[in-house]
Amino acid sequence: MNTCKRPDEMQRITTPELAELFIAEQVKEIQSQVGDKKVLLALSGGVDSSVVAALLIKALGKQLVCVHVNHGLMRKGESEQVIEVFQNQMDANLVYVEAAPRFLDKLAGVADPEEKRKIIGVEFIRVFEEEARKLSAIDFLAQGTIYPDILESGPVKAHHNVGGLPDDLQFELVEPVKLLFKDEVRVVGAALGLPDSMVSRQPFPGPGLGVRCLGAITSDRLEALREADAILREEFDATGLTREVWQFFTVVPNFRTTGVRDGKRAYDWPVIIRAVNTIDALEADVPEISWSILKKITARILDEVPGVCRVLYDLSPKPPGTIEWE
Ligand code: XMP
Repeated sequence: MNTCKRPDEMQRITTPELAELFIAEQVKEIQSQVGDKKVLLALSGGVDSSVVAALLIKALGKQLVCVHVNHGLMRKGESEQVIEVFQNQMDANLVYVEAAPRFLDKLAGVADPEEKRKIIGVEFIRVFEEEARKLSAIDFLAQGTIYPDILESGPVKAHHNVGGLPDDLQFELVEPVKLLFKDEVRVVGAALGLPDSMVSRQPFPGPGLGVRCLGAITSDRLEALREADAILREEFDATGLTREVWQFFTVVPNFRTTGVRDGKRAYDWPVIIRAVNTIDALEADVPEISWSILKKITARILDEVPGVCRVLYDLSPKPPGTIEWE
């Protein structure tokens, strides 16, 4: 673990101008650290790894190799956005690994949440390691470490990092945002030209939708979860709630519920909507969302997502309910 300390006099990056200064400084520093060598980065598309990627592309161009592992537990459109932004717009050296079948195979029949997290974490390292071995002459590994990770404050870090540094692959680390807080990383990301939907993204757990498709993951429930989550995000975007609510998502439990379709009984899945506001994720409140918005989201999910016949809104604060359902 990195133990460097943020100097007391370091100015907080709150404006685009300050972000530009930071970027110019880091570009020089990265260039002098890396020289003409190559750098590897696991690019999930989350805020931290995306900002590090954009910074390194600016400093090093094609000397950076980004590896995006699609573990099949991403939200709808996320992997596509990584390709669009980094490969198409920024012309990055991007290796896209379609690993969904592999992860879902390993997870088949596994119901215990911690076991699921472990499998996803271990498999991620394996896939990343395999990709790293295919590439020749890589000397550096870039990481989206931010200052709270170093302080190890907050609960998110406790189970953060799906990936990690493979033990037997030796790289020197490049961690250009390691002294920044999350809000500063977002300001830097915006100054680097990353889209707002990427820079102001809500937290998303490393194991992704894997811990929101409760119990043993099945492809029908995973698909229903992904579609329902996309509808929730669309409606939160349309009503401005995305800016007001800290984290929001859907959950699909592993039990069926009675419904009626075409005059006949049907046993379909329920979808639970979870939305929370919090400062530090240790305690969280449930925002009061207007009835009409909730009804519209419910109607859309019931209408557009096959196999779902009931939608619920989770009213539980944390504690006692955690933010995630498992
Ligand atoms: P809980 O459910 O513990 O969640 O109230 C607190 C915050 O942590 C996130 N979370 C995770 N993040 N890997 C992660 O990277 C995980 O396994 C994990 N589990 C929970 C959760 O989304 C919330 O922001």
